[in-house]
Amino acid sequence: MSDSAPAREAWGSRIGLILAMAGNAVGLGNFLRFPKQAVENGGGTFMIPYFIAFLLVGIPLMWIEWGVGRHGGLRGHGSVPGMFQSLWKNPIAKYLGVLGLFMPMVVLIYYCYIESWTLAWTWASLRGATQGLDQAGMQAFFKSYVDLDNGTVHGFWTPFAFFFITILINFYVVSKGLTKGIERLAKIGMPILFIFAAILVVRVLTLGASEVIIDGVATQSSPIDGLNFMYTPNWSLLASPKVWLAATGQIFFTLSVGMGSLQAYASYLTKKDDIALSGIATAATNETAEVVLGGSLAIPAIVAFFGVAGATAIAKGGSFDLGFIAMPLVFNQLPGGAMMSTIAGVMWFGLLFLAGITSSVAMATPALSFVEENFGWTRKKTAIGLGVIALLIGILHLVYYTQGFLEEWDYWAGTFGLVVLALIETVLFVWVFGPDNMWREIHEGASIRIPRFFKFVMTFVTPVFLLVMMIWWTVQEAVPTLLMANVPEADHGVRWASRGVMLAILLIQLWLIKAAWRRRVLDGKEVT
Ligand code: PHE
Repeated sequence: MSDSAPAREAWGSRIGLILAMAGNAVGLGNFLRFPKQAVENGGGTFMIPYFIAFLLVGIPLMWIEWGVGRHGGLRGHGSVPGMFQSLWKNPIAKYLGVLGLFMPMVVLIYYCYIESWTLAWTWASLRGATQGLDQAGMQAFFKSYVDLDNGTVHGFWTPFAFFFITILINFYVVSKGLTKGIERLAKIGMPILFIFAAILVVRVLTLGASEVIIDGVATQSSPIDGLNFMYTPNWSLLASPKVWLAATGQIFFTLSVGMGSLQAYASYLTKKDDIALSGIATAATNETAEVVLGGSLAIPAIVAFFGVAGATAIAKGGSFDLGFIAMPLVFNQLPGGAMMSTIAGVMWFGLLFLAGITSSVAMATPALSFVEENFGWTRKKTAIGLGVIALLIGILHLVYYTQGFLEEWDYWAGTFGLVVLALIETVLFVWVFGPDNMWREIHEGASIRIPRFFKFVMTFVTPVFLLVMMIWWTVQEAVPTLLMANVPEADHGVRWASRGVMLAILLIQLWLIKAAWRRRVLDGKEVT
């Protein structure tokens, strides 16, 4: 089969590849999710398990996924079901790989919905719609947007319009193909994103101290207090499993590992392409964007105006309060008046949109490749088909957001599922395929040699770490979440419906895999 695999598209240049991979990893996770998780879990305390997870699972999985992706791609597979099948010649392998179709599809849909907010807020900043609002006003602005029954600020159709535009842009980009669509977007978008972020960081860190009222007492707070909070660990909190789970979950989400999208991008590599250096370069770029830029933006800015206690309260208030409520409030208080507020707002939400779209096109890739390769559809037709599906299912998120429809998807597909897929693929690539084969595979065409220490880590430490995490996660969080321990009774119906939709997607995809392999057998190109 490997010899007869049809020629696939390839990346245009190494820089294009790295930017696309970095675009995949750098996303809303870096600028919205990271600050929230870090602040909520004690700042400096969070950073210790965060770096440990980066070293022991983040970097290894980066290499593993590039390796799995290229290995499958050379055999004609652009998505995880086929990749698993080429690693392990057991008919079950392809069905295990369903996770690599399911999660990117599910996350894509709700991620695009959040991405559409960033577009809406860019527009709002441009129009000056959030200028002069106080905290209550900013909250009302947000609440009215996410709750369709609350027309106090936004018209009923406004969120639909932005969601529609977001889906349209995403699927337009992917319909153009790998080099003309995704690679070009990354080459334009990533530099702009970094420039916007760097300008905002400088502005934030050069702010002076301001007076904040904490419990009725006026104190001085400055951006530096925010940085101190981020880098001073509270050792006693380190024993809390919650902090470890949050930190590991963040590493997964931010690096895009355990999902299926890095593998899809890597499937366009050739035997001569380097994985070892490019993989670590991608991880390093992501961490720079997350810790240096993401960590020096929202947290110090918000601490400067609300104090550490205020920032913590905001982070705990809601998943998106830091980015969509507190940040525009900060911009309104920057020296320079309305003009400055507009510029900062457009840069912040504009950078979020760019970070978001370079990630969402990556999530769309596995399903696109799967349909194209197995059912012979053209890229354009596939893009239109998937775009329509994403749009229709996405509407459920718009309608039921306030009842936690999205939260369910984010937990099962965007958090818990990542560890499950990562564990399965690590076992397949390292143990079934074999440690020596794995090591050889990621060094094929490599520009550097990875220190041997990592072979040991990848063979023993990563799988054990993942297994322990998964068990811990199940007991600590997944079971209570499944039983809806903290969900108001009134929302249970919507939550179950939300799970039902996910289950339906999963079952349809399993069925499609079955159908795809039947076709392969008929065409005489079965892999096992
Ligand atoms: N890593 C992206 C972020 O930080 C999210 C993502 C996850 C993208 C999985 C692609 C696949 O926002």
